[in-house]
Amino acid sequence: MTTGTHAGLPDQYGVAGHPIAHSWSPFIHGMFAKATAQNLVYRLFDIAPEDFRRETLRLFTSGVRGLNVTLPHKQAAAELVNELTPRAARAQAVNTIAYFDDIQLLGDNTDGVGLITDLEQNLGLQLAHARVLVLGAGGAVRGVLAPLLERDLEQLVIANRTAVRARRLAADFSDLGPVVGCGFSEIEGPPYDLIVNGTSASLQGEMPEMPVGLIGEETVCYDMAYGRGHTPFTLWARSLHAKRTTKGWGMLVEQAAASFALWRGIKPNTQPVLAALAEHR
Ligand code: ATR
Repeated sequence: MTTGTHAGLPDQYGVAGHPIAHSWSPFIHGMFAKATAQNLVYRLFDIAPEDFRRETLRLFTSGVRGLNVTLPHKQAAAELVNELTPRAARAQAVNTIAYFDDIQLLGDNTDGVGLITDLEQNLGLQLAHARVLVLGAGGAVRGVLAPLLERDLEQLVIANRTAVRARRLAADFSDLGPVVGCGFSEIEGPPYDLIVNGTSASLQGEMPEMPVGLIGEETVCYDMAYGRGHTPFTLWARSLHAKRTTKGWGMLVEQAAASFALWRGIKPNTQPVLAALAEHR
């Protein structure tokens, strides 16, 4: 695959979402570009759901080379592109679009590799034989299920406010490993090794009611949301004495690095960016 460039001018990239003003992606990709001497700019594009298709196509027609796609557009992006990578096809959700001269718009999903890299390399977790509970069944969760199941888990439970969505998602991924879906009230102990919050409830300042007995002293709790201070999920986990609680900063940086590698053919070092972001966590 080839990417065209306009001599001298920086190549254009960005992130499309709604809302998007608080995104850290321009900061992260700016650091990657500097460290790898890539001539590019990375901007925020606030696009309402009803305008997503038209605006995104307009951006690529006007010369944009790549976009990250975030809430609430990940599933719409999967329908927009000309071709999906196998992992994006599996997720039916896209967080990265790349323009290539030959195939035009390629949709990829780097959320899963972002989460797994953060869990294994940055946090040092062993996922093999773990019991994992994932909360949520939307676009953010779709991208991480296959990479989690590839780690040879003992069990993966997907729990969602709307139970039928969790059951449907579990059925879609059941060929990859032991996965079941249920509503929040149906989740059963014993305590899990890892609980990942992939709902957008934190964004509304909410933590859904959970049954007792899900968190023990060895449980790691990971909120895919990020921001300053605690989220309702990390507060819940702390109140039940989880071994460790963490937010999705590492996933954000690692998924960005994988997107950058797809666009530019260079894998940036994530450690300096993680260190720079540490003061904001
Ligand atoms: P995303 O791309 O972030 O996953 P999404 O596809 O809209 O966005 O999915 C949002 C997820 O958060 C869903 O699992 C949603 O549950 P429902 O399927 O029942 O809608 C979940 N969610 C959103 N607000 C929530 C809340 N207040 N309590 C519990 N779950 C919530």
